[in-house]
Amino acid sequence: MGAQPDRGSVGIGKPGSKTRVVAVSSGKGGVGKSSVTANLGIALAGRGRTVGIIDADVWGFSIPRMIGATEPPQVLEDTLVPPVAHGVAVISMDYFVREDQAVIWRGPMLHKALEQFLNDVAWNDPDYLLIDMPPGTGDVAISMSQFLPRSQTIIVTTPQPTAQRVAARAGLMAEKVNQEIMGVVENMSWFTGDDGTRYELFGAGGGERLASELGVPLLARIPLVPALREGADEGKPVVVSAPDSEAAAAFETLADEVEKRRPRVRSHPELVIS
Ligand SMILES: Nc1ncnc2c1ncn2[C@@H]1O[C@H](COP(=O)(O)OP(=O)(O)O)[C@@H](O)[C@H]1O
Ligand SMILES: [Mg+2]
Repeated sequence: MGAQPDRGSVGIGKPGSKTRVVAVSSGKGGVGKSSVTANLGIALAGRGRTVGIIDADVWGFSIPRMIGATEPPQVLEDTLVPPVAHGVAVISMDYFVREDQAVIWRGPMLHKALEQFLNDVAWNDPDYLLIDMPPGTGDVAISMSQFLPRSQTIIVTTPQPTAQRVAARAGLMAEKVNQEIMGVVENMSWFTGDDGTRYELFGAGGGERLASELGVPLLARIPLVPALREGADEGKPVVVSAPDSEAAAAFETLADEVEKRRPRVRSHPELVIS
């Protein structure tokens, strides 16, 4: 086994913690938020970074299956040791709710569960903690901003204008709770046919427009590839199943950007003068 139940020396999100917290958000579901989180996590792990993922999409949890981390966490003393797959440690509501149970979380319960994901898990001071947020702007976003005032947010959108407008709300929410928006990822940007032609199935320019609206960079554009969905269904994200594909290359570009874009220094993020 070997894993020590080490929560880490400084709490994640506290001043002095070396862990960079990156939340992945979107306005609506189905735009590829979890796919981006999983592939980004594995790409960073591939560079020798230590990486954890909190699947905070408490109703639509999908990271354990997507990444193939299906073993539940182990309980050691009073900590949870998260399962690891492709070099990434994962915690998710998936491990704690039975398949035939409805998940009804009221605000305070949800808050408490997320706090436990952060504090009772042996994260062991990873270089990165990625948070797969639920879509939209609700209780979870507020709770997370309270626990993790120093986190950076990536907004995922698709190219069409409606998606971009909805995503803008998630961006404004991040700003409102004083979280730094690192940038935008546009997913399902194009499909490359057998003849090499790029087809922009969902239109074009949504990511670019959203980025300029929010005053942040467009970090990456990810193509639509069947291998991405197939990989996710089999616990092998595309950066693992097809590392030479153009989708994997796009995730490597994203990982480069994330590595480069360290958070702005804010010594007292809790002080907001408006
Ligand atoms: N670039 C892509 N190419 C092909 N399929 C994709 C792509 N991005 C996401 N998908 C698929 O679309 C569905 C929704 O993606 P997911 O990451 O679960 O979105 P979200 O977390 O935003 O709800 C999944 O089946 C996923 O495998
Ligand atoms: Mg998801």
